[in-house]
Amino acid sequence: MKLYDVYPLFDVNIVRGNGCKVWDANGTEYLDLYGGHAVISIGHCHPRYVEAVSRQVSTLGFYSNSVVNTLQSKLAETLGRISGYGDYSAFFINSGAEANENALKLSSFHNGRTRVISFSKAFHGRTSLAVEVTDNAKIIAPINANGHTTYIPLGDIEAVKAEIAKGDVTAVIIEGIQGVGGIRIPEVQFLRELQEVCNSTGTTLILDEIQSGCGRSGKFFAHQWAGIRPDIITVAKGIGNGFPIGCVLISPKFTPWAGQLGTTFGGNHLACAAAQAVLDVMDNEKLIDNANTVGAYLMQELSKIERIKEVRGRGLMIGIEFNEPIKDIRRRLLFEEHIFTGVSGTNVIRLLPPLSLTMQQAEEFITRLKRVLA
Ligand SMILES: Cc1ncc(COP(=O)(O)O)c(C=O)c1O
Repeated sequence: MKLYDVYPLFDVNIVRGNGCKVWDANGTEYLDLYGGHAVISIGHCHPRYVEAVSRQVSTLGFYSNSVVNTLQSKLAETLGRISGYGDYSAFFINSGAEANENALKLSSFHNGRTRVISFSKAFHGRTSLAVEVTDNAKIIAPINANGHTTYIPLGDIEAVKAEIAKGDVTAVIIEGIQGVGGIRIPEVQFLRELQEVCNSTGTTLILDEIQSGCGRSGKFFAHQWAGIRPDIITVAKGIGNGFPIGCVLISPKFTPWAGQLGTTFGGNHLACAAAQAVLDVMDNEKLIDNANTVGAYLMQELSKIERIKEVRGRGLMIGIEFNEPIKDIRRRLLFEEHIFTGVSGTNVIRLLPPLSLTMQQAEEFITRLKRVLA
């Protein structure tokens, strides 16, 4: 059987990783400024993570959500403490799209409404509701185009208010920092007004922190730069450092009932062991502070490079916009300089490295990028 051909692939076979480096099958070393798409948060094969996952898989890999799972409650407690959302509840699932799917469903159960406000260039995943609130008509199949979503330009608070005033909006969903959309940061004032209008109308504010969360922005959640407290926060990617796990953080204003949400694999023992190790390492090694320091250095150095049109971002979520398509720059970075980077659209290089990126590795990247741009 051949693979269903949906991914444009680089012809590189990565077989090993350590920290911020990966190696291909020929033994070539690469610096990973992409983190496997914002997934590797504490670094590849961190020894504490390897030990925790190995120990758990040889003890108990899985049991269902029909029994007490103390690993889940411990993980929820740690996540609450580190994120500052100790009074919220956690519902664990397996991916980002699933987190958004459950968040939207919960919102609709809560206020009985069905329309969602999303924003231009938003990306929220590829399952039915998640893709319906994603601003990319090409990936919305006819079966998913159910008319639930109104897209509004990012930052247009008056348009949001006008839509909510119609009375049928269940939720507003917004990324902490738009990733696929090109590293676009919502304005602080806009987020505050968004929270206000949602609160005063019983509309659920859902913060998708799947890419921008888990310390990547230099705070645990990117929206914390604006000092807001959304009703629901969705998490995935970095919380598992490669092990599939997601989470919906739910405000106390929501009331659970048996069977309201459910999942077979979500929050299983192995996934919890992986995420627990991630949060412990993040805490012990002060990786969020590191994301701030190294990210600020990268942004400062990148801003000095003439060929670059604009540098946007926070912490270690950085967009480098050029006046020209970046396809060739990115290809040369990979094949000549052995550096993995991400992309948004045609003109933006996206940096999403492990939060453990060292200053020396950041300097190395700047040197090699300059060589490609010379
Ligand atoms: C902001 C955001 N939301 C949701 C998703 C979907 O996550 P997953 O691919 O785990 O379903 C992504 C994935 O890139 C994302 O960046």
